[in-house]
Amino acid sequence: MRNTRPKGSRFYIIAVLAVATVITAISSTLTYKNSIKAAEDSMKLQSLGIAVSLEALLKDSYELKNRKNIFKDIITEGKWEGIAFIALYDKKGKTLLHSNENLIGRELPDEFIKAAAETGRPVNRYAVLGTDERVFMLDFPVHIKNTENILRLALRTYPVEGVIRQARLQVLGMAVVIGILWVIGYFFIRASHRAEELKTKMAERERLAEIGEMASVLAHEIRNPLGSIKGFAQYLKEQQNKRAVEQQRDYLNIIVSESNRLETLTDDLLTYAKPVEIKQEEFNMDELLDEIFKTRRSDVDAKDIDMKVSTHSGLKLKSDRDKLKQVLMNLVNNSVEAVDSNGVIEIKAGTVGDKINILLKDNGCGMDKETIQQAFKPFFTTKTKGTGLGLAIVDKLVKALGGKIEIESEPQKGTVFKIELPNSFVPD
Ligand SMILES: Nc1ncnc2c1ncn2[C@@H]1O[C@H](COP(=O)(O)OP(=O)(O)OP(=O)(O)O)[C@@H](O)[C@H]1O
Ligand SMILES: [Mg+2]
Repeated sequence: MRNTRPKGSRFYIIAVLAVATVITAISSTLTYKNSIKAAEDSMKLQSLGIAVSLEALLKDSYELKNRKNIFKDIITEGKWEGIAFIALYDKKGKTLLHSNENLIGRELPDEFIKAAAETGRPVNRYAVLGTDERVFMLDFPVHIKNTENILRLALRTYPVEGVIRQARLQVLGMAVVIGILWVIGYFFIRASHRAEELKTKMAERERLAEIGEMASVLAHEIRNPLGSIKGFAQYLKEQQNKRAVEQQRDYLNIIVSESNRLETLTDDLLTYAKPVEIKQEEFNMDELLDEIFKTRRSDVDAKDIDMKVSTHSGLKLKSDRDKLKQVLMNLVNNSVEAVDSNGVIEIKAGTVGDKINILLKDNGCGMDKETIQQAFKPFFTTKTKGTGLGLAIVDKLVKALGGKIEIESEPQKGTVFKIELPNSFVPD
């Protein structure tokens, strides 16, 4: 469970990058294609415009019987910019007029001229000239003196190539940005992976430290009662023949109580270390509290403690009865230990909506701020014979029951534990 968040964030980063890459790739391709299309459209329009103007010019010059090469003049005068050459062919491909005079009269069997002549429609394409120059070529059918000729116009493509180059640069720029994002993403994921590893290592170190602490407390706690048990057992062995019955009874009592202490310690340790298994059932809160008080009756009577219980009679709850009993037992034990003679311990229980609220209040020695902060930590105790597992177990069980617990306490005034639990819940 501990590692789900970083893995989730890694997946999120990869997903975002993948989506960004796909969107950028699609938009770049569209932009690039549109630029090429716009460039071609602009060449088409420009060439058609020039061709129409030239057709009119040709008609005039033919009618005036002006035999001078107007195409050459157009190129040299630079009337229309970007024209590589202009030529006029008859339907068979014979060059009637050409901006390069040397080519006039040349036969040019050309499929494009043929296509334009046959369909009577302009034909355009990109072509590469003998000079290796790439041009936009238009073959435009023109009618001069009732004969059909083909006007060929070769336009230089460099103005529109600038636009295409810019589009290409834009695509490249986007690819670089996406590449950089992936590199940043990679380093981010690597850093988060390292942080995760470090966290796992630290958690492991913390766990080992806790186990070490547990082992030292265990050794300490077991050694003392064990010393007593061993000592008194040896003594009783030596005294077998003597008649010290009264004293032997005292020692046997000590052996039994120290063995009990060890038993409680091992029970507490097991409860704290074991995973909690929740079994829900419906039960009566009055009866549960009654059972708890009966178990502590002798101490309550010895200290003459005033036990006050206020619950709705017959309050029915749905939770894990045994776990809740252990939680309340540990809290009541602490309160019984905290109050002086004639102390007051009060328990209130009730339900609000789908929540169970339990309040346990005593007017005992109370806790200072530091004690409150440490109280739920395992092995924290201020008592000479405490193990410090009571509240650690309470905390663990309350969490397993899906609830929460809070302490309010003031030294010399008393302590209040507030527990909120769901009334029936789905355990994790
Ligand atoms: N009702 C209370 N009034 C005053 N102090 C309390 C109360 N409950 C807990 N404490 C403080 O919190 C500490 C931790 O309590 P916790 O029950 O975990 O351990 P413990 O009672 O010392 O030992 P044990 O494992 O035997 O229960 C106690 O040592 C005590 O200082
Ligand atoms: Mg305790």
